[in-house]
Amino acid sequence: MKGRGRFLVLEGIDGAGTTTQAGYIQQWLEEHGIRAIVTREPSEGPIGATIRQALRGRLRLPVVAGSGELSSETIALLFAADRLDHIEAEIKPALQRGIWVISDRYVQSSIAYQGTLIDLGWVEEINRYSIAADLTLFLRIEAATAMQRIGSSRVQTDIFETRDLLERIAGGYDRYYAGNPEAAVILDGSAPLAEVSAAVCGALAQAFPELRQ
Ligand code: TYD
Repeated sequence: MKGRGRFLVLEGIDGAGTTTQAGYIQQWLEEHGIRAIVTREPSEGPIGATIRQALRGRLRLPVVAGSGELSSETIALLFAADRLDHIEAEIKPALQRGIWVISDRYVQSSIAYQGTLIDLGWVEEINRYSIAADLTLFLRIEAATAMQRIGSSRVQTDIFETRDLLERIAGGYDRYYAGNPEAAVILDGSAPLAEVSAAVCGALAQAFPELRQ
């Protein structure tokens, strides 16, 4: 019988290249004969769609009383709810079928993004039922580099994509990994693309013996 798939996560501040590397990992795994899917958070589900609208500052849904702006606490709860939905709807079913799952962002995004704005302990608490990843790769880049990349590639920017905020979020990740060194493998996301991809493959081969060939 085929075993359970592995659950991989990519983390980083906006512009770190998580989406590019998620696609690369999928292709690399398929070359090793391993079926893999890429998913992302906010997810493709209904709560994920609500979050995407909220992040672009244009949430106009009946759930919002008053101004149409959501508080950071509400957004944190939406991310936590979307995560449980993502786990049940996409991650667990794939893993059970022996398919590897590569998630573009997961719990540590909430820790770094929401945890720097509001009570970190509470953010961790509302994410307590999220299943653990088998491996998390953190693509580390400076906020200044991220701003340059974002500026040159996107027309519309999310509310988190300002330099000051990105610096705080980068600090949130760094503090978290300083206290939890086993939580992720930290890679230099500012290196040329091919080098980052090579480092990603190296980290995967290190973590999973079946990929060393
Ligand atoms: P992003 O990956 O940038 O999606 P897209 O490129 O499709 O807009 O994710 C949207 C934003 O959501 C990004 O700025 C990070 C933020 N985010 C959080 O604040 N908390 C979370 O828990 C997650 C998963 C993402």
